[in-house]
Amino acid sequence: MSFRRFLSKHFLSSQTTSTPTPTQASRPITTPARQLTQTSKPIMSSTTATTQLSPATKVALITGGSRGLGKNTVLALAKRGVYVIFTYQTNESAANTTIEEAKSIGGPGSLALHLDVAKPETIDEFVKSFISALSSIGKQNFDYLINNAGVGHHGTLAETKSEDIDRIFNIHFKSVFLLTQKLLPHINDGGRIVNTSTGLTRFANPGFILYASMKSAIETYTRYAAKELGKRGITVNVLAPGAIATDFGGGAVRDTKNIRDFIGSQTALGRVGEPDDIGKAYAAVLSDDFSWLSGQRIELSGGQQL
Ligand SMILES: NC(=O)c1ccc[n+]([C@@H]2O[C@H](COP(=O)([O-])OP(=O)(O)OC[C@H]3O[C@@H](n4cnc5c(N)ncnc54)[C@H](OP(=O)(O)O)[C@@H]3O)[C@@H](O)[C@H]2O)c1
Repeated sequence: MSFRRFLSKHFLSSQTTSTPTPTQASRPITTPARQLTQTSKPIMSSTTATTQLSPATKVALITGGSRGLGKNTVLALAKRGVYVIFTYQTNESAANTTIEEAKSIGGPGSLALHLDVAKPETIDEFVKSFISALSSIGKQNFDYLINNAGVGHHGTLAETKSEDIDRIFNIHFKSVFLLTQKLLPHINDGGRIVNTSTGLTRFANPGFILYASMKSAIETYTRYAAKELGKRGITVNVLAPGAIATDFGGGAVRDTKNIRDFIGSQTALGRVGEPDDIGKAYAAVLSDDFSWLSGQRIELSGGQQL
């Protein structure tokens, strides 16, 4: 069931009677480009393909940087002079656009690699590609890891299938765990890890039992990882966005007026979040200003469902 239909059935039906217009409902998300293999060549910012970065230039890895919150974070970090390696799953054209935009705002360069977090068994191969990408810019290690890639799942306890549990567990927990574990030797001491949760771990809305439970696991994982990695000066935090207008959930929050209005009415700041509300917050938490923050969950929801 689509996110929009699910919300209408389980969540919005008692609060609103309006329905999405056909144009809103049929708006395409993005056109996936060809499915690439794990060993596909990196896409690089053309002006920086042979760049050897200075020792002072920080390097970030963001999973799911081709669209939405991850893309916004790529751009926010590029503005701050960070070289960003980001991943995409299927959407090579969106990854190219992110690279071009990061270049146009004066970033030091960026590079995109394919990764499918629904397949944790491919993480080792990905790590090899990532290390080779680092070496192509003159680095052996990197500074910031942002675990962001992901999709939603909508279904009640009764509706959720066993295979859904495996898929959402792989995407939102197992791959985050394994990717971070395999990259530990390559994160500089004093580096930062930021994970991504959701406001739905604090408030319980119908249909998010599986998705929110996996995100809750990441919140606990964050506290344990912060404790383990503190001795290396590495901070680990988890940011929890509220409802943000992206492609997520079929673009329901972005494209459906009654959903936007309803969530806005339940939010202290009176509207849904936009990607621009989020990327700068990730960049801030990665900055030196937040060097004493670790093991924390910070919600970025504009005060949703307080
Ligand atoms: N938007 C919200 O309301 C909201 C609220 C709270 C938390 N979040 C969380 O924020 C994160 C980003 O969400 P978003 O709103 O930016 O979503 P989005 O706009 O749909 O973008 C998703 C990103 O993740 C990538 N991705 C999707 N499935 C993947 C997979 N199996 N393997 C690797 N990469 C994959 C996509 O790559 P392609 O472009 O190649 O498809 C894309 O870059 C997710 O973890 C989500 O749970 C979102």
